[in-house]
Amino acid sequence: MALETERLILDEWRVGDWETFRPIATDAEVMRYITGGVPWSDEQVRRFVERQVEMQAERGYCRWRLAKKEDEATIGFCGLGQWREERDPEIGWWLARREWGKGLATEAARAALRDAFERAGVRRVISVARVENAASIRVMEKLGLRREREFELEGLRLVRYGGERA
Ligand SMILES: CC(C)(COP(=O)(O)OP(=O)(O)OC[C@H]1O[C@@H](n2cnc3c(N)ncnc32)[C@H](O)[C@@H]1OP(=O)(O)O)[C@@H](O)C(=O)NCCC(=O)NCCS
Repeated sequence: MALETERLILDEWRVGDWETFRPIATDAEVMRYITGGVPWSDEQVRRFVERQVEMQAERGYCRWRLAKKEDEATIGFCGLGQWREERDPEIGWWLARREWGKGLATEAARAALRDAFERAGVRRVISVARVENAASIRVMEKLGLRREREFELEGLRLVRYGGERA
């Protein structure tokens, strides 16, 4: 299955898509607030994509592969995943740098959230970011998620937002 927005397709991953995600997960700017700028290895990229295929099959949601309608090339991901041991799924987003600042993360996240609540039966989501990641936190706010708590993990300051099905 796939979701559509005005400009985007939120698509299921196929295992072989991992190479289309590699340029994004190895861009130091994209990875700045994820790993401190360290690129993911091929193995990490492959595992991520495999996990999304499994999640979709097991839970009916995942961090969707994002593509623009015009050419369907992978420009990132957006959607729900598992964050550490948290009970509620976490919504997240990574975009190729050339696509930042156009409102695409918010557009994708609105569709992913609606689908999670209305189709997949999710009742509550969280979203976690480093406190320095202003763009990501702004997306959380534009989605209508509420700031719930700030905490420290492995020497990093993190903030958690959350929201329930209306
Ligand atoms: C986070 C990310 C997905 C946002 O994508 P995007 O498509 O540019 O996001 P949007 O355009 O929908 O919204 C971003 C908002 O943050 C604002 N913003 C961007 N950079 C900002 C900054 N440095 N300080 C404050 N606000 C900022 C934008 O102005 C916009 O808000 P507005 O609509 O009120 O003007 C993108 O920056 C990214 O891929 N970052 C790297 C991966 C990452 O860190 N993911 C999140 C992990 S928690």
